[in-house]
Amino acid sequence: MKTSVLFASLLTASVASAAVAPATLSSLAAGSDMSPAHLHKRTTAEEVWEALEEAATCTACEAVLTLLKAVAHLGNSDFVDLMTALCIISDTEDEDVCKGIIAMEGPILAHDLRQFRIGSHTSEVFCAYVFGLCEIPSVTAYDVPFPSPKPATGRPTSSGKTPIEVVHFSDIHVDRFYEEGASYNCTKNICCRPYTTAYEPGNTEYPAGAYGNHACDSPVTLEKSMYGAIKELVPDAAFTIFTGDVVEGAIWLVNETEVTANLQDAYQLMASYGLATVFGTVGNHDVAPVNSWPPSAIDTTISSQWAYDTMSSEWEQWIGSSASSVADSNPGSYSAIFGNLRIISINTNMYYEENFWLFAPTMETDPSGQLAWLVDELQAAEDAGQRVWILGHMPMGSSNALHDGSNYFDQIVNRYDATIAALFFGHTHKDQLQIAYSDYTARSYKNAVATSYIAPALTPTSGMPAFRVYSVDPETYGILDIVTYMTDMSAEDYDTAGPTWTKYYSAKEAYGPLVTPPIAASDTAAELSPAFWHNVTEVLAVNQTAFDEYYARKWRGYEVGSCTGDCVSSEICMMQAAEAQYNCWTPTVGIHFSKRGNSTTAAADARKHDHDECEPSLAKRMFHNLRKTKRSQI
Ligand SMILES: *[C@@H]1O[C@H](CO)[C@@H](O)[C@H](O)[C@H]1NC(C)=O
Ligand SMILES: *[C@@H]1O[C@H](CO)[C@@H](O)[C@H](O)[C@H]1NC(C)=O
Ligand SMILES: *[C@@H]1O[C@H](CO)[C@@H](O)[C@H](O)[C@H]1NC(C)=O
Ligand SMILES: *[C@@H]1O[C@H](CO)[C@@H](O)[C@H](O)[C@H]1NC(C)=O
Ligand SMILES: *[C@@H]1O[C@H](CO)[C@@H](O)[C@H](O)[C@H]1NC(C)=O
Repeated sequence: MKTSVLFASLLTASVASAAVAPATLSSLAAGSDMSPAHLHKRTTAEEVWEALEEAATCTACEAVLTLLKAVAHLGNSDFVDLMTALCIISDTEDEDVCKGIIAMEGPILAHDLRQFRIGSHTSEVFCAYVFGLCEIPSVTAYDVPFPSPKPATGRPTSSGKTPIEVVHFSDIHVDRFYEEGASYNCTKNICCRPYTTAYEPGNTEYPAGAYGNHACDSPVTLEKSMYGAIKELVPDAAFTIFTGDVVEGAIWLVNETEVTANLQDAYQLMASYGLATVFGTVGNHDVAPVNSWPPSAIDTTISSQWAYDTMSSEWEQWIGSSASSVADSNPGSYSAIFGNLRIISINTNMYYEENFWLFAPTMETDPSGQLAWLVDELQAAEDAGQRVWILGHMPMGSSNALHDGSNYFDQIVNRYDATIAALFFGHTHKDQLQIAYSDYTARSYKNAVATSYIAPALTPTSGMPAFRVYSVDPETYGILDIVTYMTDMSAEDYDTAGPTWTKYYSAKEAYGPLVTPPIAASDTAAELSPAFWHNVTEVLAVNQTAFDEYYARKWRGYEVGSCTGDCVSSEICMMQAAEAQYNCWTPTVGIHFSKRGNSTTAAADARKHDHDECEPSLAKRMFHNLRKTKRSQI
């Protein structure tokens, strides 16, 4: 496919839908060999899609960007019209979903595109993540400045004192419009809502139960059930961590009013159930438009300040004056003290590939100055002899993390590895972990420096609803064990009796005996250190039985599927990478598009296997969802 034909197809698509003055189009077409005759032919949806289908190289991506940039210069509404037309053509989502989301996401993309220098680092990163047409460029070298050299001290050994318990849950994605009896078999990414008459209770053969369904986000009944179970099963919890994403996945419908009410409802419900002090984090979904988190330096009227303000005021009851930084100095982040532990909650949206604001013409090294602030907080903790837990939404080794930010963050983790007891994330909806190393070219138990614990989700879209309880050393705040609780939605009486929460597994019981030297479950004081976890990954790489058990736990036993050979290697690689460039995920260069064959199946498949469980932006899925090569399980 010649670039000029692609241009012509896309331009005429924009003419058809946006009624642009022909003079403007002629000037846009200058430099291409497009004949004016093309401009009068109304290109069919199918033709545009075919044009894109053949764009298979990084150079082709630049050509597409050049075109999109030109349309963006015509104004937001022209751009939104073109993108909406493309979305409908691509059949990635229903028409109402296309219209709703692109009306919100389009202006952000247009803002970036207008200023793009085609061929720059930013545009290459954009082509890699949004179109999958370029390799991810190598990290732009930057040495994070530290106020003091790294001390010789290592991780403290366990105190042997009676452990405290800490509850961790994540990705609740509560759907306040979930309706019992509404269809769970729909063409949207989440069902159990009466989107149409046919989906209404009484009209469907697929009525949702009262307590949730794997094709839907969490009903309030499920949310309440979990809070109740936490109170009952862990009455003496010292505190609670919640790693973000309150809002449901009907992202084409969410707006400021809805998100604000969602955030208020969820945090007030946690409080009303009397959960021990909740330390929250900002999820990518906790705003509208979804993923729209402009860093402080971006000048825009599409502000997310209201979301920060809402979380700040809800969190104040638990974190007191620390809540002010959530709204002001470092939007979305704070540092709070519990005993001798400093809890630092960071806003990982500053490194998230779906936050299109990050693709400013020159990508910022340290969006909102958060990394500099994190260094100050860690230095203060080191100076005060405190230990630190870092909380965030997106795991920083994830394939969703931009490589540059992930690298700079990992430099900080390595500098303060003796102070950081552990890191805690959510976002993937799965039970996972990531290990940080001081040398990724020679990963070993000797140079494993930190563990990121990734909690499974409450929302049932990719597994059974779950939460976990850490057994924690009260002096070092090291993690001694993780007990995961879940409710089995396949139980026969689930829809009538409601969720029953039971112990699923203990990490120490499951993995302790497999390593050399073994850790007995009775050795309650032994820490699950980064070296321990590295040793576990080495066992999983060679013992398929142990790996299968791990893999089933990742999904809490729901539609587990098999994973052998390369799948095992890539899973182990992910576990051995808290820095994104080393996680073995690469976009498949030379993307192929194809029309969606079966919406329900395709949507379910995307839910389960897309590398971003948090319903990535539509613009991106439009280009990615239909690729033939699945990037599985990240
Ligand atoms: C959803 O409905 C279609 C028919 O419309 C049916 O073929 C399919 O099996 C249903 N899916 C589920 C999960 O029940
Ligand atoms: C915001 O969303 C809610 C729920 O979808 C809807 O009822 C309301 O009309 C929307 N408000 C605006 C201003 O669009
Ligand atoms: C990890 O395994 C090595 C042997 O490969 C062993 O020497 C070391 O003690 C183990 N560390 C932990 C914490 O299990
Ligand atoms: C492999 O893992 C299984 C299941 O955890 C365990 O029972 C078995 O002893 C392990 N095999 C070896 C050779 O360590
Ligand atoms: C979609 O897939 C399901 C399950 O394989 C099948 O029963 C259904 O008929 C398919 N629907 C369409 C529209 O092809």
